[in-house]
Amino acid sequence: MASYDVIVIGSGPGGYVCAIRCAQLGLKTACVEGRDTLGGTCLNIGCIPSKALLHASHQLHEAEHNFAKMGLKGKSPSVDWTQMLAYKDDVIGQNTKGIEFLFKKNKIDWLKGWGSIPEAGRVKVGDNVHEAKHIIIATGSEPSALPGIEIDEKVVVTSEGALSLPKIPKKMVVIGAGVIGLELGSVYARLGAEIHVIEFLDHITPGMDAEVSKQFQKLLTKQGLNFTLGAAVQKVQATKTKAKVTYKLRKDDSEATVDADVVLVATGRKPYTDGLGLAELGVEMTERGQIRTDSHWSTNVKGIHAIGDCISGPMLAHKAEDEGMAVAEVVAGKHGHVNYGVIPGVIYTHPEVASVGETEETLKDKGHAYKVGKFSFMGNGRAKANFAADGFVKILADKATDRILGAHIIGPMAGDLIHEICVAMEFGASAQDLALTCHAHPTYSEAVREAALACGDGPIHS
Ligand code: NAI
Repeated sequence: MASYDVIVIGSGPGGYVCAIRCAQLGLKTACVEGRDTLGGTCLNIGCIPSKALLHASHQLHEAEHNFAKMGLKGKSPSVDWTQMLAYKDDVIGQNTKGIEFLFKKNKIDWLKGWGSIPEAGRVKVGDNVHEAKHIIIATGSEPSALPGIEIDEKVVVTSEGALSLPKIPKKMVVIGAGVIGLELGSVYARLGAEIHVIEFLDHITPGMDAEVSKQFQKLLTKQGLNFTLGAAVQKVQATKTKAKVTYKLRKDDSEATVDADVVLVATGRKPYTDGLGLAELGVEMTERGQIRTDSHWSTNVKGIHAIGDCISGPMLAHKAEDEGMAVAEVVAGKHGHVNYGVIPGVIYTHPEVASVGETEETLKDKGHAYKVGKFSFMGNGRAKANFAADGFVKILADKATDRILGAHIIGPMAGDLIHEICVAMEFGASAQDLALTCHAHPTYSEAVREAALACGDGPIHS
């Protein structure tokens, strides 16, 4: 029986980051992974492959819409779908092999197979039982399908099937206007598919600042995505090549049907803890099927911890990574901390959408007096030059103290721009601190500074 200080179950961004940090802190570490490659959902069938397809399809969009304007003449490129998928698979391979390299470098054992916990202090992988002082569960999440809707990953697909469709569909129905639906809907819209998004709520992207959400929907509609909001999908009838989606409008209960070549079910994800043996161990779960943890990511069973999508909080790779590093510090006898108030969220469409902290809606609910500093990318020289002037930066600051409470960006590189605001928030900065920081010209980041200026005496370029 091999004996470890720590065995991490799952090698997604939560698990592999945790394993690396444990090893760096001098703990003898193993990581259990049943897939053929490391990296979990994010690297294999999530964040990374979808970003490859978003990148490739965005280049096509640029060629079709903006090249001629810049004097770059010629036929637009045609799409070789097989090659595009091969490029995506190559990107996955490079990333997953990268984790394998990091495991070797840090002397982390990869225990190949699906793990279970027969008792506290023991992890079973295949026929082998290993001993561990600390077990860290990082088994992630899986798509939560709608009741009665059968997924075949060919015609009725989750995000996994949508990343490897045999051909580009002519018509795609997307159920759910959340992150997955809009990112993958954008990919296929750019590749020529007709996209119909059906969303239960009366707005897209639940939880997003309402003003940003409205602007986002407008821009996506301009890009050819069609939306039916306030509609509950009732059933999906599929054959081998086609599907029929029936939905009911919530306002008047009227029913309608749409046809599709592919239906993407993107109605959320749920924790994945199957086969671990948690019920037998008496590990407490929440009513939403998450593993219940305390502020140190410990379950109620001594020596068993959990992080990432299988516990509460936003299902985001970077939230799992932060928890992975923090729990490693905890089991190594140090202090581990995650500031859940400063976790950015990004949607990698074009333009990108990024947010952190409070929205106007959450502040109103709390009765917190705030001010808004807003700046449009129309006033940003770099954005104008790059056909990227749609969108704005919005900073929310405390009315009395000017402390930054949240920020919302829709525009070019929003997912990168948000981080200077995250750092500012970590330091408890005021909008004025940001406004007084010199920002290089010409950069998109000047729009962030202008929004900070807008919290005070006003921006320069609007
Ligand atoms: P989501 O929770 O973001 O959105 C699901 C949407 O489906 C919601 O708008 C919901 O109202 C709608 N919906 C639910 N039932 C419905 C029904 N019967 N008919 C019509 N609409 C219905 O979930 P999504 O997009 O599946 O993503 C899952 C998780 O993965 C999220 O937590 C997301 O944050 C994460 N993710 C994050 C990414 C990123 O950070 N860029 C990329 C992809 C996923």
